[in-house]
Amino acid sequence: RRGNGTKEQLGLQRLVQQLPQAIIIGVRKGGTRALLEMLNLHPTVVKASQEIHYFDNAKNYARGIEWYRSKMPFSFPHQITIEKSPAYFITDEVPERIFKMNSSIKLLIIVREPTTRAVSDYTQVLEGKERKNKTYHKFEKLAIDSSTFEVNTKYKAVRTSIYTKHLERWLKYFPVEQFHIVDGDRLITDPLSELKLVEQFLHLPPRISPFNLYFNATRGFYCLRFNIVFSKCLAGSKGRIHPEVDPSVLTKLQRFFHPFNQKFYQITGRTFTWP
Ligand code: A3P
Repeated sequence: RRGNGTKEQLGLQRLVQQLPQAIIIGVRKGGTRALLEMLNLHPTVVKASQEIHYFDNAKNYARGIEWYRSKMPFSFPHQITIEKSPAYFITDEVPERIFKMNSSIKLLIIVREPTTRAVSDYTQVLEGKERKNKTYHKFEKLAIDSSTFEVNTKYKAVRTSIYTKHLERWLKYFPVEQFHIVDGDRLITDPLSELKLVEQFLHLPPRISPFNLYFNATRGFYCLRFNIVFSKCLAGSKGRIHPEVDPSVLTKLQRFFHPFNQKFYQITGRTFTWP
């Protein structure tokens, strides 16, 4: 018992691995990493550092809920655990599986203007190809059907940006009040205002302050200050330079997304100034 003195003093014996009380379910390239890291500035929030891919990956899901729990960080009982796996948002089986784990879980979705998100998605894939010295199609070729000249809805980066289609699948399981939509474009330019909204949604006392976020001109993004000694920016792969895209293709995509965006605003009650 004596040997446990320090541990007891620090209260470490109370550390547990908790299933997440909130999940960032997507959207890929919306700013999911920035959101998770920034929420972790809050003393009550503990993050699963890696994307767990439990609910979207059949092999992982078959490992069972205790495997999932074992992937969670240690936390104190009063803290909440958050994980992010952006593939959850677009994977058919996921809403039902999450519902079965916890039907009152809080779900965070971070979105960006859909055309920008699609180009960002493309840029990530392009970078992966280039790393392997492979060539890749131009964005224009993938996003536009070469025979009809219409938007190619088979292209995954286009499909992922049709937010309302995915959300509607989730709404078969969860009421809309269980979702909070984060404006990923504003998380870039004014992160604190978005984080305050998330604190409210998660019923957390407001603890993230201007001290915690500082603009780094070299990176062109906000970076995170946890305390007087520890600060960090996101990895260089966050905030890539997008290739230039034919403006008429961008306009075509914006027109294509417009009605879906309207529906998304209507359902979520959050309106954006997307074109
Ligand atoms: P780009 O690379 O298109 O700029 P995800 O983590 O979901 O993959 O999202 C990546 C996006 O997060 C980046 O997209 C970037 O714009 C955005 N982002 C938001 N806040 C950021 C921050 N503080 N630092 C770096 N990237 C940030």
